[in-house]
Amino acid sequence: MSRTAVSAERGHRFFAWFYARASAAAEKGPLGEHRRSLVRQARGVTLDIGSGVGHNLAHLPAAVAEVHLIEPDPYMRTRLAAGMDESMQLHPVGAESLPLDDESADIGITTLTMCSVDDVDAVARELHRVLRPGGKLLVMEHVRSADDRVVRRQDRLDRLWPAFSGGCHINRDTGASLQAAGFDTAALRRVELPGTPAVTRELIIGALARR
Ligand SMILES: C[S@@+](CC[C@H](N)C(=O)[O-])C[C@H]1O[C@@H](n2cnc3c(N)ncnc32)[C@H](O)[C@@H]1O
Repeated sequence: MSRTAVSAERGHRFFAWFYARASAAAEKGPLGEHRRSLVRQARGVTLDIGSGVGHNLAHLPAAVAEVHLIEPDPYMRTRLAAGMDESMQLHPVGAESLPLDDESADIGITTLTMCSVDDVDAVARELHRVLRPGGKLLVMEHVRSADDRVVRRQDRLDRLWPAFSGGCHINRDTGASLQAAGFDTAALRRVELPGTPAVTRELIIGALARR
């Protein structure tokens, strides 16, 4: 059985319920502001990986013609479907194997998803494959800290964290994976989310050109 098929069958019922409730509050603060200013840069054929309960959908501008939502978790998909319109297509697969042709998308979006995918390097390569030259990847991800003391806590906690957070890892160097896949990461900013535990406080945010 392929990795994609395994992902499509897996689900986190409790985490989907919890994420829908907890994230609704977080979206009213700085996280929601960052998301809004990032996602409004989308246009043309747009791909959103790990769409979750659909927080990005409301921020997609009129310049978006077609949206592909990638979501392997059936419990997330139930919530996501409620916010979809006819321009959107939902694919019940993992982002390690995207159901899009090479160089067919104008914009990719990954927000708080690379922490949870099975294979972050494979997903970064798939995003690079499906984006056309000149396309952009819109990124907002919590990542491995720049502070070694926090990294030590992240590495310790990460042994247990995924079991309680729908498979989320708190110590991934997602920027390095995106760079290795061929994205120009110079545009990434590192920001801190106030009121958030140190182990998930640091975000990378930016619109990355596909090299
Ligand atoms: C923390 S949620 C973030 C949801 C949404 N992107 C947001 O910004 O609110 C992580 C999402 O990644 C999804 N996910 C997990 N493994 C995945 C994979 N291999 N490919 C794509 N999405 C995946 C989860 O089902 C979940 O919906």
